Amino acid sequence: MTSKQKIIIAIDGYSSSGKSTIAKAIAKHLGYKYIDSGAMYRAVTLYALQNNLVDIHHHHVNEEKLKSLLDEININFRFNPEKNRQETYLNQENVEDEIRKMEVSNAVSIVSKLKFVREKMVRIQQKMGKEKGIVMDGRDIGTVVFPDAEIKIFMNANAEVRAERRYKELKENNVDVSYEEILENVKKRDHLDETRKESPLKKAKDAIELNNSNMTEKEQLQWILSLIHERMN
Ligand code: DC
Repeated sequence: MTSKQKIIIAIDGYSSSGKSTIAKAIAKHLGYKYIDSGAMYRAVTLYALQNNLVDIHHHHVNEEKLKSLLDEININFRFNPEKNRQETYLNQENVEDEIRKMEVSNAVSIVSKLKFVREKMVRIQQKMGKEKGIVMDGRDIGTVVFPDAEIKIFMNANAEVRAERRYKELKENNVDVSYEEILENVKKRDHLDETRKESPLKKAKDAIELNNSNMTEKEQLQWILSLIHERMN
């Protein structure tokens, strides 16, 4: 692959399957932009929660109100050199930590299934990829956002492995949750992601599957880089 020939790399898969870790590593390696599309759905969900538009107990979203406020929602990413990470901003406010909390995780499926929410996010994401040279992870990147992406990867790992990873991550950030709670949330989100009407999670026909239950990060990166090398030469 010549350095001038920039491509789009779409990484889809189940929640906590390690998409973002590997997507970030690839982006860094190639000098590409990394976009966490899940963070965008989380930010919209946070906005809906802040404005009391979600009734989580009744699985209900005030769609009409959210729709009317959609243009008020501005989402972007900024790199924080102190923490060496990209952070999500909602209307110019840093919400990176807020959007990872259980309250948002529990509500994100019912907000991200709304057609008008998805349409807006997809539009923004496609704009971000116009210049190529991007790695984006999510659920519908290879199927809906970038159906012509040069590289599509579909990641999976068994639910227990994924819950364990998420548990560790949240514990490191001092979030008070139990492993059982997380496992339940992971399974529930799998089901909702797979069965929703709008852009359900499914492997694109031309995506390559990567089950990383027993792979280290380094092995995964090597695997993907050699795939890119193979494909682009
Ligand atoms: O990747 P994540 O777990 O942070 O994503 C949060 C939620 O957003 C997830 O439950 C499904 C939804 N999502 C989506 O519907 N489409 C995407 N492209 C990315 C995430």
